[in-house]
Parts: sequence; structure tokens; C-alpha cells
Amino acid sequence: MKRVRPADMTEMYALRADTIDYFFPDRTKEIKIWDELASQYGNDVLHLMCGTGEILVGLAKEGFNVTGIDLTESMIYRAREKFEQEGIDGENLVVDDARYINIGRKFDFIFISTGDFHHFLEKKHINSVLGKIFAHLRSGGAVALELFKPPEEDFKRPEKRHRPLRETPDGLKVWKLNRSSYHADSQILEIVEKLHVDEEGQIIEGEYDIQLKLYTEKQIERLLKNAGFENVRHLYEDDLSGEKHESWIVVAER
Ligand SMILES: C[S@@+](CC[C@H](N)C(=O)[O-])C[C@H]1O[C@@H](n2cnc3c(N)ncnc32)[C@H](O)[C@@H]1O
Repeated sequence: MKRVRPADMTEMYALRADTIDYFFPDRTKEIKIWDELASQYGNDVLHLMCGTGEILVGLAKEGFNVTGIDLTESMIYRAREKFEQEGIDGENLVVDDARYINIGRKFDFIFISTGDFHHFLEKKHINSVLGKIFAHLRSGGAVALELFKPPEEDFKRPEKRHRPLRETPDGLKVWKLNRSSYHADSQILEIVEKLHVDEEGQIIEGEYDIQLKLYTEKQIERLLKNAGFENVRHLYEDDLSGEKHESWIVVAER
């Protein structure tokens, strides 16, 4: 048995790339939400931290001209596979760090889904990502961030077992054990997850610690306005991502 203790984000996501899709429910509803939002601004869409490209391939099938950026090579590898299966060109799926992108052209709509913006904990990284988004948007274009709402009080949730939400291929057994705690003072949600993958007797176990920085509406508005954005609005839809955290989408224009 191989026990992996990923030291950083890329190692953690490399470990999850082959199985992460099974822990999402069907994503048709999410794709429709992003389709409707992006359509208000134009055809050129950039998805930062796009993971295995499930949302992006859905948007590409609707005719958007899509670009996807993710820091983890195996995520982009999976995304390219999906594009290839659909007969869509995946050359705009690129391994890069959202904090330092320099794509050399502007987009109508840039988004970060599934609470991924919460991965940036430090002010300098948050400002760097928002600055890069601003620089890559055309005037009048929009950014949209799907965020989790901060709970009002501290909590500690005991370990719980999560089974895949979709059918896995024959010979693949996968599950996660997950416990979390929230600190209202720092607004940090800490998730400790153990992933178990058994692929025809080849067992891999990984344990990782994810820290997410949550925001109130007012805090995110301030960050966006400081980065130069205007016309900030908040969109609510129960359970946007199908995950059990309550989420909303904040949209701001350049
Ligand atoms: C939860 S996964 C993405 C799920 C994806 N948004 C979706 O909707 O299917 C989070 C992703 O963020 C990526 N990531 C983390 N830090 C990043 C960074 N600084 N720049 C780009 N991608 C990053 C990870 O590699 C990982 O694939």
C-alpha cells in the first residue's frame, strides 16, 4: 500500500485527478448556470482552476470559445482527454498558475467555480489573482466567482465517509473520509480528507489538509472594488454546485 502525504496543492490534486469527477453529481445544471452568465458578456471564456474540464467541455459544446487553466498537469491531461472524446480542440487547456497568467489576449468572461477561489489564503495571492483577472478582461467584460458562505459560528464535524456520486468504471473502488472544522475569527475552513483508491487490487491512499478562506458579501465586494471592478452583484441559487456547502456567485464587471 502506498501512503501519500501531499506536501502541496499540486501533489494533492495530482492524487485526486483520476477520481475527482466521481465525487461530483451530474453537472448539467452548473453548466447551464455558467452558460447563461457567460452569454451576457460574449463568446470568449476563461475558466481558471478548471480541474478536469467538466464545465469547460460543456461550455465548448454550447459553442463558446473556451480557455482553461489549471496548475496540476494531470487535471489538464484529463481535461484534454474529455475534449478529444468530444472531437473538440483542447489546445487552449494549459497548465499554469492563476496568480501569474499572461495569456496575451483578453476575454469576455472569466470565472472560478466550485469555491476554488477560497484556496488563496494570503492577501498577496488574492490580489495577484484578481489583478490577473482584471488584466485579462476586456472593458465591460465580467468576472464571476462561485463562493461558499461563511458559517456564523465555529464548528467541528467528525469524520464522515463519502462514496462516489456517480458510477465508477468496473474494477475501480474509491471513497473519501472527510472531517472539517471552521474558525469564525479567521474565517478559515479546514478540511482533512483521506482518499482511498482501489483499482483492481492496486491500492493508493492519500491524506491531505485543505484550508479555505471564506468571505462575507461585503468582504468580497471590497476585494473586487480594490482590484478595480465595478457593478458587483450577488447571485443566489440553492446548492449551485450540488455540493452541500451553501454557495453563491459574485459577479463584477471591468
Ligand atoms: C476542486 S479542483 C477544480 C474543480 C473544477 N473547478 C471543476 O469545476 O470541476 C481545484 C483545482 O484548482 C487547481 N489549482 C489550485 N491552485 C491553483 C492555482 N494557483 N492556479 C491554477 N490552478 C490551481 C488545482 O490544480 C485543482 O485542479
